[in-house]
Amino acid sequence: MSEKAMIFDQMVNEHRDIEAMLLELSKGYDKRKFKELRLALTAHMSAEEASFYPAMSDLDSGAADKADEAHKHVRSLLSKFGLVEPADFQSKLSALTEAVKEHFRTEEELLPKARQTFDQQKVGELSYLFHETERRIVERMK
Ligand SMILES: [Fe+2]
Ligand SMILES: [Fe+2]
Repeated sequence: MSEKAMIFDQMVNEHRDIEAMLLELSKGYDKRKFKELRLALTAHMSAEEASFYPAMSDLDSGAADKADEAHKHVRSLLSKFGLVEPADFQSKLSALTEAVKEHFRTEEELLPKARQTFDQQKVGELSYLFHETERRIVERMK
């Protein structure tokens, strides 16, 4: 696992990557870039749901429930792009961007506590689950 980032750094790195993709798309619709964004965001959320969220719910079940709700909201916003006309794209994208950024911000507030609480073995397990889930989703959606 050495060459792969541990879960917390990986989560933050992916947040910044996804924000950069959202910004890029705000400059203009591009089908390929949108598909990349959808894949990255879906894989990211599924990986968290398989690793970080169950662990987090032992620490702070309220925060974990709130994060789950935020994922549902983001997924429902994403599903609306299927029917999108190019003219509608930017308004859907800005709703998605707002929801995603707010969720990332809240989620990152949980990380210091998680870093403090989980021991090295737990972090290793969560990192493995995160990377494995992400790999499977990317395989399936490619
Ligand atoms: Fe995240
Ligand atoms: Fe999340």
